[in-house]
Amino acid sequence: MQEQIDQYTTEINAFSPANADELESFRIKFLGTKGIIKDLFDQFKSVGPEEKRVFGKVLNQFKQLAEARYQELQEKFKSEVENPASNIDLTLPGDGFNLGSRHPLSLVRNEIVDIFKRLGFVVAEGPEIEDDWHNFSALNFPEEHPARDMQDTFFIKKNNGRDDVALRTHTSSVQVRMMENGKPPFRAIMPGRVYRNEAISARAHCFFHQVEGLYIDENVSFADLKQTLYHFVQELYGEGTKVRFRPSYFPFTEPSAEMDVSCTICGGSGCNMCKYTGWVEILGCGMVDPNVLENCNIDSKKYTGFAFGMGIERITNLKYVIRDLRLFSENDVRFLKQFQTEII
Ligand code: PHE
Repeated sequence: MQEQIDQYTTEINAFSPANADELESFRIKFLGTKGIIKDLFDQFKSVGPEEKRVFGKVLNQFKQLAEARYQELQEKFKSEVENPASNIDLTLPGDGFNLGSRHPLSLVRNEIVDIFKRLGFVVAEGPEIEDDWHNFSALNFPEEHPARDMQDTFFIKKNNGRDDVALRTHTSSVQVRMMENGKPPFRAIMPGRVYRNEAISARAHCFFHQVEGLYIDENVSFADLKQTLYHFVQELYGEGTKVRFRPSYFPFTEPSAEMDVSCTICGGSGCNMCKYTGWVEILGCGMVDPNVLENCNIDSKKYTGFAFGMGIERITNLKYVIRDLRLFSENDVRFLKQFQTEII
């Protein structure tokens, strides 16, 4: 018996559990109701009185040793659970965390803004809820112009029985505010959200984004307009991109034009995106109509200028070959994460 106890003592002292399960097995093995100590006490009942005196003491000491060891190990485990730092391997690589990404429209807007900033344009903003004056009248829209019609414009409020307050239909309203509140020269671009009362489909939405530009000074000519926009296109789509201007009409510019670029997808040879014409339209532009300058208290004899406006969605579609406008506002992460960029 003594020999057995000695052996168990060595085992108990050397025992070092790797986890709480091993410690529990240790408890069951030695201290459990069917464990070794219980067994030794049972054997002890049958030894002679002489031996009982000697072994009683040894057995009790052994039992105390096992209990003390169990308690000690249990405390060690408890402190590791409560203080997990002691368990952490600091050499392991850390968990990465997901960075957000810029919305493709923001990426393209920033790119457009940066190009014009390098040319000395400042950024101006205005309200999305506009009155008739800033959105239409000051911009030389005739009283009966169809763009004022309920079909295009979300009117919000009437004044003296007439539709007056509306969600702006274009960022040209910011031009008016800028010219009214300042003195020429002006060189600014105006990015912002605009609204039109259209049924939502792959090709149209009830809101979208524009960047408008305005340049007013003495002796500004159509040649300045062309050179500025030509430079812009080379920066945005790369050297060698061709441009062409087609005559057009806007109430607030005279003459007016629409500008096409050689198709950014096929390079002009013809594809689905350019409907096999080799050209895609990206913006409207023109020389600011003298009526508009006068409406904003600017001397149209002394000053001239040009304006242009483009849809950011359209520019983005051409850049990333996106064919459904609805993707921009549905917040589908599978779409958005394709534009993963570092947030700075
Ligand atoms: N405001 C026009 C539009 O929304 C674009 C434009 C701006 C055209 C400035 C000419 C000059 O379509």
